[in-house]
Amino acid sequence: MVARRRQALPVRAAVYDRYGGPDVLRVEDVPVPVPGAAQVLVRVAATSINLSDWECLTGSPMYSRIGGLRAPATATLGSDIAGTVESIGDGVTQFRPGDEVYGDNLALKGGFAEYTVAAGSALAHKPAELTFAEASTIPQAGAIALQGTRGIAAGQRVAINGAGGGSGAFAIQLAKRLGAHVTAVDNAHKLDFMRAVGADDVVDYRRDDFTRGEPFDRVLDLVAHRSVFAYRRALRPGGRYRCVGGSVRSLLRVLTIGWVAGRVTGRSLGMLVVKEGPEHFSPLGDLCVAGEVATSIDRTFPLADVAQALARVGEGRALGKVVVTPD
Ligand SMILES: NC(=O)c1ccc[n+]([C@@H]2O[C@H](COP(=O)([O-])OP(=O)(O)OC[C@H]3O[C@@H](n4cnc5c(N)ncnc54)[C@H](OP(=O)(O)O)[C@@H]3O)[C@@H](O)[C@H]2O)c1
Repeated sequence: MVARRRQALPVRAAVYDRYGGPDVLRVEDVPVPVPGAAQVLVRVAATSINLSDWECLTGSPMYSRIGGLRAPATATLGSDIAGTVESIGDGVTQFRPGDEVYGDNLALKGGFAEYTVAAGSALAHKPAELTFAEASTIPQAGAIALQGTRGIAAGQRVAINGAGGGSGAFAIQLAKRLGAHVTAVDNAHKLDFMRAVGADDVVDYRRDDFTRGEPFDRVLDLVAHRSVFAYRRALRPGGRYRCVGGSVRSLLRVLTIGWVAGRVTGRSLGMLVVKEGPEHFSPLGDLCVAGEVATSIDRTFPLADVAQALARVGEGRALGKVVVTPD
């Protein structure tokens, strides 16, 4: 292992040992984690919150309990990290202590802490033009948005459901860059934000059903909760619906009945399994550096207030991304 400098013990981390609301989180002293082979110890500068953090905190939907049915599998949440390499494990050749990195540490998590261990393969060099907070908003949400908007053609009508969050704010911008007409769906509090990011039309999902209007060529659903027949109805012939998250019931129905209903009616309904890793989010980092896509930071919270930060996302008040910093 190659270390930058010897680190005093202990360090601060947000931990939890049972599923529940933000009040199950405690910020306490923990030992500095030690990187194993192919791993990197990162001094965390910023960690952005994804809906997946909220899901793993509450243990709902059920897929968030994979690896920990009754109790959480990892003590510290937080996967979208940005920070500085402190030390490297055996076999890490792409990073050196002192390098600035960012990435989606979804497998190990641990970003709501002063230090975390990440797989070297999950990280990329942080562009110098982006702040740590900006960079931390990109990995998971960026990979979802890039893959969810791939193949959109100019002039297509595109709906993005759940568009007021982290992935949605990027997906709106990417779909607009491709020349689509974008309808963004989320709660009433987020409508102005989605317009400001670039949406042509906005829909309050608590008041209106976007599947009952003029149909779309593409639907990207970040939070599937409707029936497959509603999704089929939302598509033009030849149209494509892809969900990335939502209730287990909706996702299973999309994968079974939806697939069949799509095939027999000349539409495509399915789930997008998002590929992780630097090659899947770095292109969005490059677009942010070029000024072609903007990051959207709603608020930054100190680590001591991580519970409030998660509540802001889970309770639907965040416009774009919420970031937690250890300082
Ligand atoms: N497939 C994969 O491999 C993969 C990998 C990682 C993550 N994911 C999933 O990707 C999704 C995107 O997460 P994110 O971090 O971008 O989420 P986010 O920032 O929390 O945004 C989700 C947005 O959806 C809204 N919403 C909730 N219920 C809705 C409904 N019924 N109709 C319309 N909008 C609704 C939320 O607003 P409210 O405040 O009103 O709830 C929120 O603004 C998550 O579902 C996550 O589980 C998938």
